Amino acid sequence: MIYDQYPYFKLETKDLNYIFHVMPTGQLEHLYFGRKLVDENYEVLHVKPTAGAGSTVEYVSTKGNILLELMPLEYSGIGKGDFRLSPIEIKMPDQTFVSDFVYHSHEVIQGIIESKELPTAHAKDHEADSLVIKMVDLHASLEMKLIYTIFAKQNVVTRRVLLTNLNDLDIQVRKIMSMMIDLHETDYDLITFDGGWIKEAHKHKRALSYGTYINDSTTGSSSNRHNPGIILAKKNATEDYGTCIGVNLIYSGNHYEAVQISNHGNLRVMNGINPHCFEWVLKKNESFETPEAVLTFSDQGFNLLSHHFHEFINNHIIPTEFQHQVRPVVINSWEAFFFDFNQSKLISLAKKAKKLGVELFVLDDGWFGQRNDDHQSLGDYDVNKKKLPSGITGLSKSIKSLGLKFGLWFEPEMVNPKSNLYEEHPEYAISIPGRTPSLGRNQLVLDLCNPNVLAYIKNELTRVIDLAGLDYIKWDMNRHITDMYSMHIPNQGMFFHQYILGLYDILNYIRNRYPNILIETCSSGGNRFDLGMLSYGAQVWSSDNTDPIERLKIQEGLSYLYPPSTISCHVSLSPHAQTLRKTPLSTRFNVASFGVLGYELNLKYVTPFEKREIKNQIQFYKDNRELFQFGRFYRYDTIHPNRKIWQISKDEKHALGNFQTLASASPEFESIQFKDLEHDSIYHIKSFMQQMPISQFGHLIAHALPIKLHPDGFIMRVIGKHKGLPNATEDYQVSGRMMMSGLPIKQQFMGTYYNDQTRILGDFGSQIYIAEKIQS
Ligand code: GLA
Repeated sequence: MIYDQYPYFKLETKDLNYIFHVMPTGQLEHLYFGRKLVDENYEVLHVKPTAGAGSTVEYVSTKGNILLELMPLEYSGIGKGDFRLSPIEIKMPDQTFVSDFVYHSHEVIQGIIESKELPTAHAKDHEADSLVIKMVDLHASLEMKLIYTIFAKQNVVTRRVLLTNLNDLDIQVRKIMSMMIDLHETDYDLITFDGGWIKEAHKHKRALSYGTYINDSTTGSSSNRHNPGIILAKKNATEDYGTCIGVNLIYSGNHYEAVQISNHGNLRVMNGINPHCFEWVLKKNESFETPEAVLTFSDQGFNLLSHHFHEFINNHIIPTEFQHQVRPVVINSWEAFFFDFNQSKLISLAKKAKKLGVELFVLDDGWFGQRNDDHQSLGDYDVNKKKLPSGITGLSKSIKSLGLKFGLWFEPEMVNPKSNLYEEHPEYAISIPGRTPSLGRNQLVLDLCNPNVLAYIKNELTRVIDLAGLDYIKWDMNRHITDMYSMHIPNQGMFFHQYILGLYDILNYIRNRYPNILIETCSSGGNRFDLGMLSYGAQVWSSDNTDPIERLKIQEGLSYLYPPSTISCHVSLSPHAQTLRKTPLSTRFNVASFGVLGYELNLKYVTPFEKREIKNQIQFYKDNRELFQFGRFYRYDTIHPNRKIWQISKDEKHALGNFQTLASASPEFESIQFKDLEHDSIYHIKSFMQQMPISQFGHLIAHALPIKLHPDGFIMRVIGKHKGLPNATEDYQVSGRMMMSGLPIKQQFMGTYYNDQTRILGDFGSQIYIAEKIQS
């Protein structure tokens, strides 16, 4: 609900209020963002300067004089006394940089306001309300609309800006943030999600102090360096306690989040398109629209903040066709074969996978042109007939006749210099005339500012999609952008943003034409995990790293901002290809199940015992899929550095993952605690039964056997391929209150004595427990 009580505006969601007012001088003073207030006397929230402060400068207006530098503002300008970081920088018609935007009028609109070029959060009319505040610059004929939209049920406020030049002369926009907010208090930590290839979204926390901290990307995409999502948290905030504010951006290009503490005790936060190499010229009557910024708040710690984000994404970002639609269990060919496959290898993998319960077969890289390695053929989407003699149509038919869906990998934005496309159209690739462009993974980026390139990609994609009758697309993007230049834009400062507009144009086209194809986006893993890409593809390949212990960090980092339904997670072989770490199959599954499950391995190398385990895993996942993909995800604060606990809850069901990163000698007795249960209801709690491979016990197995066999001898190896040892299971019926206070679980193996009731986890061991309400 939007309360228009001019000069006050109150944006009210289910639990939150966002309040600001128009000052007599026309600027907007930010008053409050937090839990719903009962108060109506908002004037008590005004800052109360009683005299000038030292070296501040007065803003002089016919309606009064103020010190802008002291005011918590909703948006600011340059050169009128606010010396903090400005959200906007424009070279004005008079060639100055001074901007002075003040309130002109406002309008309340039911529903969202769609953008012409950029993805925005979608909603049915009754699910959202918008407020448009029109600001005008006092000296140049510029109009700036601040657009606020509230998604009441999800406790989210979004903001963006639409700037229009009404002047006869051009203006150059050098920076234009989607959102700015000034908070009264400064005792916040900043939490960011940073990394690189195979180490995406690691959480980092730092205390804020005077000055500016910038979280951004300059790679051309939102990047694995720094995710656009950030959190500001009061120092004492934990997973379930304390105040925090979450900020994200519906954008896939270079982003910028600045957090600044001023010497007058204000915390300024802003986000938007990165001003790095950015310049946009607006002629008379032209407009520039920023991406939409997303804001939410929690006074009950990070878990609640994440729930707001998750519900918002599941309801208002994900394409409507996939909202609350369970995602299929995938087998992906990449780690099974890399480039080395043919039709019979693929069919054999598909048959084996189908028997285990897999639903979607994805043929990854290597199916077109001469693509036998990553040096060639990107851009040429004609099937490689040597590998696939019956073509992509033939393969697709064979896969589908097995009862599987069929999906294909593309890297539509790229070209290899060694390709037919590059030979015919070198001008399609990004490069600066007269200079040699840099290569990344032996490839160049296509110039998405060029309309011919957009047409080429659309044609190629539709041609192959129609030939193959695809159910799924993996949309990859494997290098960063350098040598930024396009002859198709009037100003090179437009390059990065125009590239993203081109990308969205293609994605829009494909989505509209094939609304029921599931798109999974990818960029060498999670190099473009953002709300922009999620507006087209309902899930993201979150990392090329499938080592479950590494995934605990990656998936947990992502979980602060994105729901499990968007996080694609695969089980692969052990030892892991990137870390060489050996981990149990059970843990690889247990971690991957807290997201969208898939398998990415050659089933030829999987023993009959492991196949049985995989079959059980997939069945267990399917039985609980709604829960794992769409449940409320909780992280646990734990004092044990070698333990991580996750929970996911939906309706009457809850799953808890108890992960041990390293075993310790004579471990403490453990209990498990669930969150969010009804105190007096009775729950059935049961651990998921998992078998342990005999080889895990090495020579120790000799002590347990009645006859003496060599632990690594032929007989033991054959037995090991077919049989496992059951781990201890737990099965209780207890009240919610008891489970929330901590339920002791069976003792872990502690170095001596063992019986069938001993839980054996060892290094990297884990277990999943399901709690289901059976009586209210
Ligand atoms: C990237 C992706 C992988 C795989 C390869 C194929 O690295 O992240 O999952 O698709 O490309 O070349």
